[in-house]
Amino acid sequence: MHCRRRESAGDRPDTMTKTDVLIMAAGSGSRFGDDTLKQFVELHGRPSVVWSVERFAAVDNVGSIIVVARPGSEGEVKRLIEDHRLKKVGDVVAGGETRQQSVWLGLQALDASSEQVMIHDAARPCVTTGFIEAITKALAEVPAVVPVLPATDTLIRTEIGEVEAIVDRARIAQVQTPQGFHTRVVRRAHERALTTGFESSDDGSLVHALGEKVRIIPGERTNVKITYCEDVLVAESFMELLRQVVKDGD
Ligand code: CTP
Ligand code: MG
Repeated sequence: MHCRRRESAGDRPDTMTKTDVLIMAAGSGSRFGDDTLKQFVELHGRPSVVWSVERFAAVDNVGSIIVVARPGSEGEVKRLIEDHRLKKVGDVVAGGETRQQSVWLGLQALDASSEQVMIHDAARPCVTTGFIEAITKALAEVPAVVPVLPATDTLIRTEIGEVEAIVDRARIAQVQTPQGFHTRVVRRAHERALTTGFESSDDGSLVHALGEKVRIIPGERTNVKITYCEDVLVAESFMELLRQVVKDGD
């Protein structure tokens, strides 16, 4: 099988603004249904959080990486970072009850001078370096970048086990991470959400609610999120496929 590879952003001068990263790994994985937290589940022998951190660390334009861990698991994350010799990790901090709270805690752990930040789910281990570069490139032009995929299944609204309405699929998109932001904009969006009580598991939505423009870019089909146990098999298959793509491109 041959899949086209995303264009690499190519070499850029060192003067380009660095983008910091929050790796979100503080969830409880309630839908995953296993004793292992899904951020630690192994794919081809390496935990999901390790794959995620490593992909970002490999990108020249990435500055400091902060891992937001589930309270009590910070030690395990630090041990994994050492064992796998992961570079660029500036801090491991405890997250909160909701993803929004965890991101807020992560944003506070960023250096005050941070100009750009990407926020990524530790549960998306198949993200590619080319895609990360594409996000950083877009941040040179706009304050917020969100990758989306068109919905493929027919979508309906349901209530008490009955079809309530068919939703127009063409107007619906599925949102992925990494999402990229100018740090002051996403900080402001989270502050505003705290004040107004607006809640969302999606950072782009908070920035949109602030009235800022959010640029949509095409996501990657292979950048799946591990939600249910069987998603691990899908993610492992995509990793194989991506390795093949890289080999084909060499
Ligand atoms: N996340 C987080 N802090 C939370 C909740 C989620 O950092 N309080 C992270 C998760 O670790 C995951 C990402 O956000 O990497 C996406 O969230 P999701 O897929 O919903 O993970 P969980 O909340 O852990 O899973 P579930 O919703 O099934 O409980
Ligand atoms: Mg969740």
